[in-house]
Amino acid sequence: MPAISAAIRSSRPVATMLPGTLLHRSVRPSSIRLPACHITSTPTFTPSSTQARYSSHSPMGATTGKPRKKVTVGTIRSLYAKNEPITVITAHDFPSALVADQGGMDMILVGDSLAMVALGMEDTSEVLVEEMLLHCRSVARASKSAFIVGDLPMGSYEIGPEQGLETAIRFVKTGRVQGVKLEGGREMAPTIHKITSAGIPVLAHVGLTPQRQNALGGFKVQGKTAGGALRVLEDALAVQEAGAFAVVLEAVPAEIARIVTEKLDIPTIGIGAGNACSGQVLVQVDMTGNFPPGRFLPKFVKKYGDVWSEAMQAVEAYRADVKSRAYPAAEHTYPMPQEELDMFANAVEQSGHLQKRKAAHA
Ligand code: KIV
Repeated sequence: MPAISAAIRSSRPVATMLPGTLLHRSVRPSSIRLPACHITSTPTFTPSSTQARYSSHSPMGATTGKPRKKVTVGTIRSLYAKNEPITVITAHDFPSALVADQGGMDMILVGDSLAMVALGMEDTSEVLVEEMLLHCRSVARASKSAFIVGDLPMGSYEIGPEQGLETAIRFVKTGRVQGVKLEGGREMAPTIHKITSAGIPVLAHVGLTPQRQNALGGFKVQGKTAGGALRVLEDALAVQEAGAFAVVLEAVPAEIARIVTEKLDIPTIGIGAGNACSGQVLVQVDMTGNFPPGRFLPKFVKKYGDVWSEAMQAVEAYRADVKSRAYPAAEHTYPMPQEELDMFANAVEQSGHLQKRKAAHA
């Protein structure tokens, strides 16, 4: 362990050494000599769970609330049977999944809205399977209880049932999700059947299907005419018949969503579809208010927080503190025994190291 052996070879065990020596790869200038009593053989370093951490990279904090049982398709069915609304939210990375899971969500969707909210793309058509998989994996690491669904991106399932199944398997094996979502109604029934027959739960998605925005003429409310509403109902029935365990109803009039929900034997998860659906889904950055002022927010979104303002205030305050040297204060620094500091200062002084550097820079 070079950083440790170089860290002024101390006779103390490494685990009790001053934290700063573990944080930085301190290279001892060869010109600095410490008293011989301080030079011993390199101590062995045994990581242990009781070892204190001195950096900010611990992925998990303490869990809040009571531990929950893992949500399964069976749990979703029993919530539906009890007429208890099913809660769904999107997450795109470890922190957003952690808060969703610990906030008690039944389901977490790694939606392809990730393209816009996490990757800054214009729309969902650009996001790749590999990108979705990377984000699914980070969400899966944080979600201990919620049922995780990964969204199959455009182009990864429409060619045919074989392609759909192949992608769905990748989402389970590599993305570590428990189910997949795909957009489309009747025309997707064979693909849904193929995937569910292989034992992978499918969340269907009808109504407004953003991956088809070009064919739909934009992000338009669906089912606003009697004919359009009938198509939404037929699509929902078809995906149910094909084996979907639930269906997202996006941007359809509340009355139509209510009738569709009544006609189905599987849960409907509404987004912009009123409150008669069996559950609701929202995009997390929308509902937490994690976006700059002036950004468009769809009518159906309720903003439950103002994460952007909180984060902005924190960043601005940090900037001001750094500029004024108010941060870091003494309490943010690591202490060191005075005798060690004196010894170090003496060693530096005697080595003439500083003078040499000054001379070099003169
Ligand atoms: O990608 C997504 O986030 C979605 C939800 C809005 C349903 O598909």
